[in-house]
Formats: sequence, structure tokens, C-alpha cells
Amino acid sequence: TARTAPPTNIDAAWTALRDEAEGCTRCQLHKHATQTVFGEGPLDAGIMLVGEQPGDQEDVQGRPFVGPAGQVLDDALAAAGIDRGRVYLTNAVKHFKYELRGKRRIHQRPLTGEINACRWWIEQEALLIRPKVAIALGATAAQSLFGRAMKIGESRGRAIALPDGGEAWITIHPSYLLRMQGDVEAERTRFVEELRMAARSVR
Ligand code: URA
Repeated sequence: TARTAPPTNIDAAWTALRDEAEGCTRCQLHKHATQTVFGEGPLDAGIMLVGEQPGDQEDVQGRPFVGPAGQVLDDALAAAGIDRGRVYLTNAVKHFKYELRGKRRIHQRPLTGEINACRWWIEQEALLIRPKVAIALGATAAQSLFGRAMKIGESRGRAIALPDGGEAWITIHPSYLLRMQGDVEAERTRFVEELRMAARSVR
């Protein structure tokens, strides 16, 4: 399609892409979500950070990583010396997937079919931004970027070539720190160090 050609005006192309994503019906998740949560950040960012999908608060506010996981991410980015305002933040899946329990909306993991349906958007984002590195936060993001399931434990903490020739790093999803048992601080330290290493490869 025309959009895969190098755009003459990246800002206009990105805005058109985001606007188009508002009406996305590529999978069923739009039916119960409040809105599409598209990526945000400078289009000349060297780093593209990829999460899983919007959570409850992101779904309401329409912005990525503004809820509890976002707070964990913000703290980790600050500790790693990375300015959140200088990275492009997006998600593998752009609608909130949940299960209703009473009045509470409980996060559900996206299926492979939903990740694949949504890949088109993140591919277009990456084509516009052309980040030096992509950082996958967790398994869903890694699966989206690589087009196949990746084992976090085996692939984290080092640069890995993407199918399109770019460079990616894989680390944990920040929400893992909110639910894991055991040595949370050791895991947080490792997360920060992995963010720092990935960012260093940009400079
Ligand atoms: N978790 C994610 O993966 N992305 C968000 O935007 C918020 C929470």
C-alpha cells in the first residue's frame, strides 16, 4: 500500500495512521474497549518501547502506560537515565482486553491472533519512526516484534536482530514486578540494567 512507501511528511503520516487506528476493527477487541490507545512520543526517537496492551486506566485516558504499570516503568526509566519524553512508547495490542468480574475489569492476555491482527499498526509505526532499537517489555511485545514466541529468560539482556534488520532488546513487562513472588528488588535492578544497556546501544 501507499503507506509503506517513505512518507514525505512523517508527522502527517503518523497523525493519519493514528486517526485510522481509532476505527480499527481488525480483531474483536474494539467491541468492548473504550478507545484505541495508539503510541506516543517524538517521531525521531531512537528508542521504541513496546508494551503489551493498554490496561484499565490507559483504556479510559487513551494514553499508554499511565496506570500502575506505567508508574513502575516511569521509575525504572528514570533509574536507567532514560527520559520518557524522548522515547516512542507503544503497545503490541492497541485495545484493552478484559474480563468483567462484577464491576471490575480484569486484564486478559491477548491471543496470538489478536497480536497478529494488531501487528500491522506497530509495523507502520516502526516504518515511520525507524528507531535504532526496539525494547520489548514482556512476552507479548516480543512475540509481536519477532513474529514468533520468544522465551524471555533466554533472550533478555542482549541485542537481537529483528527479521527486518533492526535491533531489539527483550526484558520483562513492568507489571511483572507488581505480581511476582520472591526478590522483587533484584528483578527491578535487572530490569533497570537491561533498559540502560539497550539505551546505551543507541548512543
Ligand atoms: N501495560 C502495557 O503493556 N501497556 C500499557 O500501556 C499499560 C499497561
